[in-house]
Amino acid sequence: MADKSNTMWGGRFAAGPDAIMEAINASIGFDKRMARQDIEGSRAHAAMLAATGIITDSDADAIREGLLTVLSEIESGTFEFSTALEDIHMNVESRLKDLIGEPAGRLHTARSRNDQVATDFKLWVRDQMDAAIEGIEALMRAFLVQAEAGADWVMPGFTHLQTAQPVTWGHHMMAYVEMLGRDLSRFKDARVRMNESPLGGAALAGTSFPIDRHMTAQALGFDRPTANSLDSTADRDFALEFLSASSICAMHLSRFAEELVIWSSAQFRFVVLSDRFSTGSSIMPQKKNPDAAELIRAKIGRILGATVSLFTVMKGLPLTYSKDMQEDKEQVFDASDSLMLSLAAMEGMVSDLTANIPVLEAAAGSGFSTATDLADWLVRELNMPFRDAHHVTGTLVALAESKGCDLPDLTLEDMQNVSAGITQGVFDVLGVHNSVNSRQSYGGTAPDQVRARIADWKEVLK
Ligand code: ARG
Repeated sequence: MADKSNTMWGGRFAAGPDAIMEAINASIGFDKRMARQDIEGSRAHAAMLAATGIITDSDADAIREGLLTVLSEIESGTFEFSTALEDIHMNVESRLKDLIGEPAGRLHTARSRNDQVATDFKLWVRDQMDAAIEGIEALMRAFLVQAEAGADWVMPGFTHLQTAQPVTWGHHMMAYVEMLGRDLSRFKDARVRMNESPLGGAALAGTSFPIDRHMTAQALGFDRPTANSLDSTADRDFALEFLSASSICAMHLSRFAEELVIWSSAQFRFVVLSDRFSTGSSIMPQKKNPDAAELIRAKIGRILGATVSLFTVMKGLPLTYSKDMQEDKEQVFDASDSLMLSLAAMEGMVSDLTANIPVLEAAAGSGFSTATDLADWLVRELNMPFRDAHHVTGTLVALAESKGCDLPDLTLEDMQNVSAGITQGVFDVLGVHNSVNSRQSYGGTAPDQVRARIADWKEVLK
């Protein structure tokens, strides 16, 4: 074997790679994060090679033991990673050779780095899907606690960030439970779809050795082996689905983060963020800044960026493996770190969040927020067509505005001057509590409805 060439694939090479070639080619700088998955995959592969008689039991035992030693070296930080050995797969195998000698060379029988990297990456992404599921469930529970505490606290509901109608705090919290519930189902669903083992697809065409792909699939917790060896090595849908689901989830988090930024401002004072999840200013001593919320609001940028990046890498690639696909990991790692941190930080903020109930209630009643209740009353009690009721109510809002008061502050006489049939009973619907209590339609903001939805979700998350 030529001196300077790569010991893993250098048989036909007279010279080693240029330093720049080595730098652009190597992935060890980042794919070492898949060391545990790589070793797990190799151990399953070695056991299968022995069970099918492709290698001896004693070779398989030596390989499996040696791989555990390699893992402990990596985990304890004593392992020396080499750029010349390109990636985690060859770093591990090379070290295995140092440790156990000749049997190490038999590990790569009936396998290629193409199915190996697909397997490792799938195992890594699968763990992250599980972590996302756990993080989302924890956050949902935090929202449920808030919702239960404030099922009947009133606050303004907004459209266009203008006061629209009174809603309950619990209802607003439960809106996020619904969003996160969809996120949860996206990750669970993607996990089921991705859980097929690519190992044994080999380079692209399968192998002439009598391997047992069902055995390795089972050992690695996959439901079954993939059914097409070309697709096995060419597929990165699992990473794209992880990133897509992460992007949607991060978008949801950014919306609540934005609400926290607005709500905690001196102008709104709807909520108080805990000291644990706020920071001060180095120059303005009075400041308490919602940094965690702002950072969560921003994380969608890199998570969505990762998604676009991987789609762009994958589009137009001919089957099967191309080295382009080595550019699949860093964004996924970064997006995953960002998502997990965002979920944890949001859970902390939601758990610690204090609602300013009197401020919420005062805001709920301002801005003519019960105008729709008034119009509905005219329809119900006076049998007025809704369009006419809308017009009458608009006239009363304009009157209140000109008098500088809210709708409940108008006199009955004021009302009757605009529409003669109005009676004292109208004042019952102008209060914010009556307003929310009346919204009993399924999924509406009435506290009873909110409590029913809380009970539904508690059952799901049990
Ligand atoms: N480091 C490579 C990657 O991340 C592993 C697969 C290499 N396969 C190959 N045929 N060069 O994709």
